[in-house]
Amino acid sequence: MIAGRSNPASSICSNETSRAASSPIAGSHTQFMELLQELLTEELKDLLHAEGQLVKALPKMAKAAKDADLRTAFEDHLEQTKGHVERLKQVFEMLDEKPKAKPCKGMAGLVEEGAEVITDGKQMEEAPADLALIGAAQRVEHYEIAAYGTARAIAEQMNRRDIVKLLSQTLAEEEKADELLTKLAQPLLAEAGQGTEEEELEEEEV
Ligand SMILES: [Fe+2]
Ligand SMILES: [Fe+2]
Repeated sequence: MIAGRSNPASSICSNETSRAASSPIAGSHTQFMELLQELLTEELKDLLHAEGQLVKALPKMAKAAKDADLRTAFEDHLEQTKGHVERLKQVFEMLDEKPKAKPCKGMAGLVEEGAEVITDGKQMEEAPADLALIGAAQRVEHYEIAAYGTARAIAEQMNRRDIVKLLSQTLAEEEKADELLTKLAQPLLAEAGQGTEEEELEEEEV
């Protein structure tokens, strides 16, 4: 994930190095804190766009899910995701920064893949179609877990416990969503396996 997108740390650090060389307050604590805030704000802008895309994508995933529990899981996570957007806005406010989204290409790619899975699933049996949907959704959750983990680590470094607390709440919900998807995949995997065995038996009988 980090390798796949522009790294704010490297660009900010290089700017900082050239600035530091001519600045009388080079390496000061204030300067370091400003750098961290800049880094965190970049992460939050990326996340705000990512979560916004998910608010639009999750209803489509819920509609595509054939299994009732999976559909409910997507619907529940949609509500949580709306809360994630609100929490991010709160964090922007705490930092005295504008809640401005920055196009998140990573999430755009994952959402596009999810849309392909939904289209392909229309021609598939129910269990494999749902399993493919779970695979796409778990990629999304892992992306979010990585991004919130990074943002929280920066906030910890800034000693902003108020922000760490909010980001931890979202991170915990992303992790739970991921765990639930793993759990929901289990009976579907068994069902898909059964379907294959039945097909093999039919082939043998012919
Ligand atoms: Fe989220
Ligand atoms: Fe999520």
